[in-house]
Amino acid sequence: MTNDADRKRDVATTFGNATDGYRDSAVFEEGADLERLVDWTAGATRALDVATGAGHVASAVAERDVTRVVAADLSPEMVATATSEYDGLEGAVTDAERLPFATDSFDAVTCRFAAHHFPDPESFLAEVKRVLAPDGVLAFEDLAVPDNSELADYVNRIERLRDPGHAETYSPAQWRDWLESAGLTIEAVRETSRRLEVDAWLERMDVPDDRRREIRSLLSNVPAELEDAFDFRYADDGERLESYRTGVVLLRARA
Ligand SMILES: C[S@@+](CC[C@H](N)C(=O)[O-])C[C@H]1O[C@@H](n2cnc3c(N)ncnc32)[C@H](O)[C@@H]1O
Repeated sequence: MTNDADRKRDVATTFGNATDGYRDSAVFEEGADLERLVDWTAGATRALDVATGAGHVASAVAERDVTRVVAADLSPEMVATATSEYDGLEGAVTDAERLPFATDSFDAVTCRFAAHHFPDPESFLAEVKRVLAPDGVLAFEDLAVPDNSELADYVNRIERLRDPGHAETYSPAQWRDWLESAGLTIEAVRETSRRLEVDAWLERMDVPDDRRREIRSLLSNVPAELEDAFDFRYADDGERLESYRTGVVLLRARA
């Protein structure tokens, strides 16, 4: 059983080796979800993007009237990628659960497609609440699972096979509870989904062949309740799974 520190070290190494895939990924670089998150930060002058990856959210926020944008990530290579790719970002190598910033430092915190890597999401949210100034906004997005533990376990099993650094994907209801417990006031919730191109999704994490086979086998045997939501698409031969949809939640909350 790895402890949280070991897990975080592994996550930093894995993402440190995957910078190009994330930098060049259309899924991360653009999208209506990205625009919505950035719109939610409107009016902020000091912004922090937690688990910035290649910096796509941080750079989109920096294009607005923001005087300070910090692109923070556990992986030094990701921070270097973000700050060299985009002008005007301040880099910070840091754990989302222990932010090295003073209380009330930011008007906006963003965090997109990363919290499923955090072993202790409640510590992350406590830190968000601490570094946000009164009335500051959290614009948050992550993968989401159904509010049914059996189905949630099935999805998390697939995610962990693809990425051993995957801690857990939670349901929208769980995130709402945690945000409220952290003292944040929820202003908007959007439950949606995004289509994953299976080969590109596996390639981004350089998944070994045996695990690719296991993932494909789990995908071909999903519980009936997941089939509609996953909306499988197959290649012309009708056999090979090309893509499916995975759950996503976006939340805007005020400190
Ligand atoms: C999928 S990428 C993020 C994508 C990025 N937010 C975007 O929207 O383009 C996930 C990132 O989370 C980072 N990460 C994982 N665990 C972390 C933690 N505990 N603290 C900070 N960053 C973390 C990884 O290093 C990786 O860069």
